[in-house]
Amino acid sequence: MPPPSIPDPLIARLSSASSVVAFTGAGVSAESGVPTFRSPDGLWNNFRVEELATPQAFEANPRRVWEWYHHRRTLMGETQPNPGHYALAEWGEHVRKFSLITQNVDGLHHRAGSQGIHELHGNILRSKCHTCGKPAGEIGPDKEGKLPYCPCGGPIRPDVVWFGETLPAKVWERAWNDARSADVFLSVGTSSVVYPAAGLIEVAKLAGATLVEVNPEETEQSDLFDFVLRGPSGIVLPEISRILGWATRGDKARPAPR
Ligand code: OAD
Repeated sequence: MPPPSIPDPLIARLSSASSVVAFTGAGVSAESGVPTFRSPDGLWNNFRVEELATPQAFEANPRRVWEWYHHRRTLMGETQPNPGHYALAEWGEHVRKFSLITQNVDGLHHRAGSQGIHELHGNILRSKCHTCGKPAGEIGPDKEGKLPYCPCGGPIRPDVVWFGETLPAKVWERAWNDARSADVFLSVGTSSVVYPAAGLIEVAKLAGATLVEVNPEETEQSDLFDFVLRGPSGIVLPEISRILGWATRGDKARPAPR
């Protein structure tokens, strides 16, 4: 698919911006083979949120919840960052102040080389105690399926944000501040329907940022954006890098072998 044409005023805005924020969702990892949530074959069309992604679900049936997360950990371990992730890692090296805020828990931005990522919804590879919150590395059930417990006695769970839970306070505060001070705010591969994360788009808009949406589909917030780039992020973002002369990782910016 050829990249959509990138408007010159957007390129000018990006090259003069002191502060750029990229706010990403599941779509940025779609080209790596990670399923999104709300597409017709997305996770929430095949699984029940209330049985798998709420604290009540974990308390009622930790084994079922762990089985699902173990399955997703395995799948994600088999995926590789795609050119969209690599492009954003390049931007981190070229923009004076670049902030990467993600709703994704897959760790692919990190594996592409991005630094200082604000992971609003946690990270699926990490675990923590459900009772005291103490980090528990990457542990999960053992080979026999025995569930892990914290020294405090609480059950260990994946370190992700479930429905009905609050976002990690410090991460949220930093993300909010970055959105508020952005010259350019790009929303990439998100349906923009899950709050409070999706509220960052409005925060940036009210603070006067230039808003850019990168998504093959229209979203509920598309009307707010100054520029809308309709295409897959794995094509659109490297194209912007190329035009701006930021594509320093040409070898890695090709689709990763699967
Ligand atoms: P969604 O599944 O809701 O939306 C994915 C978006 O990515 C859609 O708007 C697609 O059109 C778009 N998309 C698909 N392929 C793309 C591509 N190649 N390039 C760019 N965009 C593409 O996922 P999120 O918006 O991330 O939360 O969902 C937000 C939150 O809802 C997730 O973090 C998760 C979920 O429930 C929690 O688990 C707390």
